[in-house]
Amino acid sequence: MEKKEQLYEGKAKKVFATEDEGYVIVSYKDDATALDGLKKGTIAGKGEINNRMSNRIMQLLEKNGIKTHFVEELSSRDTLVRRVAIVPLEVIIRNISAGSFAKRFGVEEGIVFAEPTIEFSYKNDELHDPLMNSYHAVALGVATWDEIETIKSMAFKINSLMKEYFLTLNVKLVDFKLEFGRLPDGTIVLADEISPDTCRFWDADTNEKLDKDRFRRDMGGVEDAYNEMMRRVFGDK
Ligand code: TMP
Repeated sequence: MEKKEQLYEGKAKKVFATEDEGYVIVSYKDDATALDGLKKGTIAGKGEINNRMSNRIMQLLEKNGIKTHFVEELSSRDTLVRRVAIVPLEVIIRNISAGSFAKRFGVEEGIVFAEPTIEFSYKNDELHDPLMNSYHAVALGVATWDEIETIKSMAFKINSLMKEYFLTLNVKLVDFKLEFGRLPDGTIVLADEISPDTCRFWDADTNEKLDKDRFRRDMGGVEDAYNEMMRRVFGDK
């Protein structure tokens, strides 16, 4: 399918219409932001890495019974996906303390949880993606109780599958953010992307950060970290 008019430009991706209104093409950019768009930069090669890595993971999840928006990789940066209405929740699963969790609760990073946690935030940069519980989401009509139950059980299943997969690459899956969408018939599917932009990946031996935290925290070695994750996912090992 061919790209038609641009429907939307986000911080890391553009979305184009196709001749079929049930499908759109997402095009991954090298642009990177943090702090709700306040901090801006580029990460050379990120668009291609995130596109290919996200597609690989979506296919792995599909094989294991998770419905996703993925249809077909069209090029190194472009992917055909089902058109969905995004549920405006960022769904965050954590296996190990880090980031805003460590800050909010005043604990160090690296505490391994006995069980994963889940939290939602309301997808709204102007409000800085405020934390939102399921009652708030239902009250504001963001999702129904049934949808929230579906999203929770999909998110935990995705966590189990991804945790196991990344460990085979000697990577600890610390935490990650998911977004879900509704197909026209109301079916909830996994949407958006799964990449070093949206996950915290730590090397299993050294705890070296292999994700966007290197950009968020001005640590240097950003491109190297993305390339290393790419090598582990697509390398012969
Ligand atoms: P946090 O610790 O900053 O709340 O981030 C949790 C996870 O969510 C982490 O893997 C990074 C990811 N994330 C996004 O994908 N987008 C965002 O806007 C934020 C704040 C975090």
